[in-house]
Amino acid sequence: MKKHDLIVIGAGPGGYVAAIRAAQLGLDVACIEDEEALGGTCVRVGCIPSKALLEASERYHAAGHDLADFGIKVSGVELDLPRMLERKTKVVAQNTGGVAYLFKKNKITRYRGHGRITGPGKVVVEGADNEELSAKHVLIATGSSVAPLRGVELDGDRVGTSTEALSYPEVPKHLVVIGAGYIGLELGSVWNRLGSKVTVLEYLERILPGMDSDIAEEAERIFTKQGIEFRLGSKVTGTRRDGDKVFVSVEGQPDIECDRVLVSVGRIPNTKGLGLDTVGIELDPRGRIPIDDQFKTYVEGFYAIGDVVRGPMLAHKAEEEGIACVENIVTGYGHVNYDAIPGVVYTHPEIASVGKTEDELKRIGIPYKKGMFPFLANGRARALGATEGRVKILAHRDTDRILGVHILGAHAGDLIAEAVAAIEFGATSEDIARTSHAHPTLSEIVKEAALAVDGRAIHI
Ligand code: NAI
Repeated sequence: MKKHDLIVIGAGPGGYVAAIRAAQLGLDVACIEDEEALGGTCVRVGCIPSKALLEASERYHAAGHDLADFGIKVSGVELDLPRMLERKTKVVAQNTGGVAYLFKKNKITRYRGHGRITGPGKVVVEGADNEELSAKHVLIATGSSVAPLRGVELDGDRVGTSTEALSYPEVPKHLVVIGAGYIGLELGSVWNRLGSKVTVLEYLERILPGMDSDIAEEAERIFTKQGIEFRLGSKVTGTRRDGDKVFVSVEGQPDIECDRVLVSVGRIPNTKGLGLDTVGIELDPRGRIPIDDQFKTYVEGFYAIGDVVRGPMLAHKAEEEGIACVENIVTGYGHVNYDAIPGVVYTHPEIASVGKTEDELKRIGIPYKKGMFPFLANGRARALGATEGRVKILAHRDTDRILGVHILGAHAGDLIAEAVAAIEFGATSEDIARTSHAHPTLSEIVKEAALAVDGRAIHI
């Protein structure tokens, strides 16, 4: 039996960040991870590889389509898909290697295998390493996996998940994406840019549920112009494989023939085989581990964070929770402000959001005013050739406090950081409006949207 202060199960962004912070705070930390590479879904088969492919496919597309407008003639643009995938693999290896380096630096003991709870403060590792571990604190950070879809059998090849869609060996002629959420739009747009016909089947009558509906509608128009076909209100009832072809059945529509299917209808918490029952941890109706606001489960000594608990399934949300959880354990303090967690869809252009949407404010009856400003009216956006999209700021009608900011446009994922900080500091739209923003930058669009809340945008 090896003894530690803290055992972290799972080395994704939630788990590995928590392990590092706990080590910084002086704990003897063990981290159990089944995969050889550290970093979890995000680093190995999620955020990082998808961003490598998004960037590569955008450059390929720009070389073939957009550079002429800038006065640059290019000819003979060719796709070298194996090289593109190889670069993605290298980027992933740099990141997983980076986490391994940080573990060494922080003297975190890594165990390779599946972690299973066997009793209070006890976890066994089964797999490449076989050990019995004990610790006063056990943090469950096991993440999530792809939600299954009835009638659709994942075959790890033609009918697959984001993992397969990050490594298709050739550009599919016709890719059917099921689900117009984060994954469907990001990976659908990668293969669209690389030359696939992409059809997105979405159950709801809109894309990106949860995002501000104005912004989602405008995004849908932009992606449609880029060549992606959206079929909203489509209920997929099954898939059938016939050689290299797949037939997708949709209620009330003829079957769709394609050569690959990407299933991206959400994710479910990873709790199987964790031994939760041995200590009496029960799941909520959605299969998540219930916790209090200090990330404690209802069983002494066990904590949980990230995709396995309530809240958005986002890497940076898991990181914040991991840090707050171990700070609570060591110092008694630690807090996450869930009103200030941004969400970003890395399409082209990007979509970023923080705080309440206009739909939510209407639903809960909070009086608000709004300011919008288009990228088209910004000098830097014109120079960049990035004039699509807008910034929308929602502020309380009476107090002017910022309640939500929604951005569709180039670098939205970076621009949102200012809005997140503003919400974190309880800022008003007036605060942003009176803050100097460098000229000429895209950040001026945020300032102008803040001015527009009070009807005094300058450049429109
Ligand atoms: P999602 O929850 O973002 O979107 C799923 C979509 O599938 C929704 O639009 C939903 O209405 C639709 N859907 C559900 N059942 C359906 C059905 N039977 N037929 C057709 N459509 C159906 O889930 P996604 O894209 O799989 O992503 C999983 C998680 O990963 C998300 O929670 C997301 O937060 C996270 N993620 C975050 C990224 C980022 O931060 N940029 C990137 C990729 C994933």
